[in-house]
Amino acid sequence: MSKLFEPIKIREETIRNRAWVSPMCQYSSEDGFSNNWHMVHLGSRAVGGAGLVMTEAAAVEPEGRISPWDLGIWKDEHISGLKEITDFIISQGSTPAIQIAHAGRKASTKRPWQGRGKILSEDGGWVPKGPSAIAFDEESQVPEEISNDEVKNIINKFVLGAQRSVEAGFQCIELHLAHGYLAHEFFSPISNTREDEYGGNFDNRTIFGVEIAKEIRKAIGENIPLIARLSVTEYHDDGWDIESSVKLSKKLKDVGVDMIDCSSGGNYSDQKIELAPGYQVPLSKNIKEKAEILTGTVGLITEKKHAEEILAKGEADVIFLGRELLRNPYWSLYAEGQIEKWPVQYQRSFEGSKKINYIREN
Ligand SMILES: Cc1cc2nc3c(=O)[nH]c(=O)nc-3n(C[C@H](O)[C@H](O)[C@H](O)COP(=O)(O)O)c2cc1C
Repeated sequence: MSKLFEPIKIREETIRNRAWVSPMCQYSSEDGFSNNWHMVHLGSRAVGGAGLVMTEAAAVEPEGRISPWDLGIWKDEHISGLKEITDFIISQGSTPAIQIAHAGRKASTKRPWQGRGKILSEDGGWVPKGPSAIAFDEESQVPEEISNDEVKNIINKFVLGAQRSVEAGFQCIELHLAHGYLAHEFFSPISNTREDEYGGNFDNRTIFGVEIAKEIRKAIGENIPLIARLSVTEYHDDGWDIESSVKLSKKLKDVGVDMIDCSSGGNYSDQKIELAPGYQVPLSKNIKEKAEILTGTVGLITEKKHAEEILAKGEADVIFLGRELLRNPYWSLYAEGQIEKWPVQYQRSFEGSKKINYIREN
């Protein structure tokens, strides 16, 4: 019996299976607007059978973009384009989700295919914001330490972004609290040396992320699933670790977060990660067992058998697939192996074809 293709119900949303699209920046927007690229990119993964299709990180303010080409959710004008995309995703039986984000000190960089690296104000970029004036690494800009009022302002921008997301038809929201972006920067003692209410001990450092979740849950009501992506560890002896993530997950659960999407790293430039298929599964297992909350795992999972094993062992409740789904948007349909699940428009492709055997075997 496949667990991967068993639906999962979270609050009022039933998601058709547990193979979900991990958020992946496309760096293809202008002024934060979605366009035909996003429709085809996200739409293809819905056609391809994913249970939930998540957008890339969508910035809650322009200064919160990783690059000038990031998707945005900071103004009402962004809603209508996204609504067309969510309508299409829903028409394909998939659940549309959005990841809302603020890049913090890692904002204002080039697109990967332009060589990454910072973009200074004089070249069309901006000075990033951070909890403290500490750069990510020697190549990065030193962020401007945000004031107490500005912290509250950004929390409010997350709430407005979530409200716009609901208006745009998203049926699930993920908070990007990972990968060394603003919320993670607040959590970690290596990037947050503030001496006010948002710095110092664990409780203070986590206020920013917890407040975002709490206020969003109040604003969107009880029906919509809310996920938080965490870097469960940042691979630094004195930094943010698994134990901190367990404690934070419990707090997030108390304010209405339904699932932790368990990722890692991104806040410490010298991090050493031993990459292997499913390398982040133990992080998910830890959070699931110790914080007693639903979890998603992600990271180099490409085989159906592997995904099924993780779910069968109870190490995660859903599997996020990233790069594999960039290579093959139809991964889920192949993995499920049922021709009748393919879009009717494509079913003739299996008539009298050897591919019928191929799909049954996958
Ligand atoms: C092109 C690309 C863009 C990404 N953008 C995001 C993003 O916007 N938000 C995020 O949380 N993770 C992002 N990630 C990380 C992925 O969601 C995923 O966690 C990571 O690629 C590991 O999973 P995989 O091995 O299945 O690709 C990105 C990864 C890639 C390859």
